[in-house]
Amino acid sequence: MRSRIFLTALLAVAVSGIHVRSAAAQETVKIGIVIPMTGTSAAVGREISDAAKLYVAQHGNTVAGKKIELIIKDDQSVPDNAKRLAQELIVNDKVNLLGAGLTPSAMSMAPIATEGKVPTVVMVSGTSVVTDRSPYYVRTSFTLGQQSGIMADWATKNGSKKAVSILSDWAPGAEAGKVFEANFTKGGGQVLETLKVPLANPDFSPFLQRAKDLQPDTLFVFVPAGQAGTFARQFSERGLDKSGIKLIGPGDIVDDDDLPTTGDALIGVVTAGMYSAAHPSQLNKDYVAAYKKATGHRANFISVGGYDGMNIIYRALQQTNGKTDADTVVGVMKGMQWESPRGPISIDPRTRDIVQNVYIRKVQKVNGEPWAIEFETFPAVKDPLKEAAAR
Ligand code: PHB
Repeated sequence: MRSRIFLTALLAVAVSGIHVRSAAAQETVKIGIVIPMTGTSAAVGREISDAAKLYVAQHGNTVAGKKIELIIKDDQSVPDNAKRLAQELIVNDKVNLLGAGLTPSAMSMAPIATEGKVPTVVMVSGTSVVTDRSPYYVRTSFTLGQQSGIMADWATKNGSKKAVSILSDWAPGAEAGKVFEANFTKGGGQVLETLKVPLANPDFSPFLQRAKDLQPDTLFVFVPAGQAGTFARQFSERGLDKSGIKLIGPGDIVDDDDLPTTGDALIGVVTAGMYSAAHPSQLNKDYVAAYKKATGHRANFISVGGYDGMNIIYRALQQTNGKTDADTVVGVMKGMQWESPRGPISIDPRTRDIVQNVYIRKVQKVNGEPWAIEFETFPAVKDPLKEAAAR
């Protein structure tokens, strides 16, 4: 018994010795991703974590001769936690790269990434301003403006004249509403009223009733990932699915993570989104099948931000031959382009923001389940708020 304990101790010393030596030789690249694995946005954390792990499982854990180590930290959907965790990842774990999640957490981590000079991939946030907060931020997610402007243009061209907006009351909702209203008005339409719904535990019913009473021809809605199921249920409970009012929005209201359980509530809904699990490329069919096999879930628009987030890190390390200093890494990420499950994407070298196709999609049942089926493509769309600011 005693000798076995001694042997175990000896082994532990030997193993930790190996670990210290390899770290000293910088043979490991550490990536620390700060996302909500618990709390109000836990679904989002799960999707990013699953997609990042899937990417590593498919592409191996060695790049440019370096071993990749993924460290996932739970910020519990609390921005102050994200800041502390980013600090600990840099100081204690000595991570080489960071991954950032939702807007409030990505905002609070930004000064830490800047001071620590750590290249950071923004995998979830959809708020334009986030990438302005650190010169080392590069986005693989989306912006709400990118989708909401295209949605407004399409709606006015297709007969919408009077709209009501229902927006989740935080930064991405404000940006969605701002860009939608600007383009909808430019197209000759009028936004009758903008209703703001609390972010936490939302009850959409009173807002849906108010919207119905205003008798618009169109209802523009933004709810974040994780809330589409609740929204869809209350939308049909209030009879809005049979009211003749057209429901439109950015892709979030037809989140593929929720769509399979929404029955007929969202059939016919048109959205402008950057990703649908029904995107008809071979690359996407393979991605959706692999994600389903690994997780049991349908891949959604959040997951591709995590998958492409790992992709850009792997590509950058290949190009820098494993060098991880922020200026070199962010330098090669600028202007990078590749094929994602969502379609062709690139990083705008000026803004470090993602440039991607925005698709107009209609929810239809295929083999008994609702899917957002793409029928029109707006190629290589930039973030409109940054474009407007540059003019
Ligand atoms: C954000 O953090 O900005 C965010 C998160 C989830 C969404 C949209 C935006 O669905």
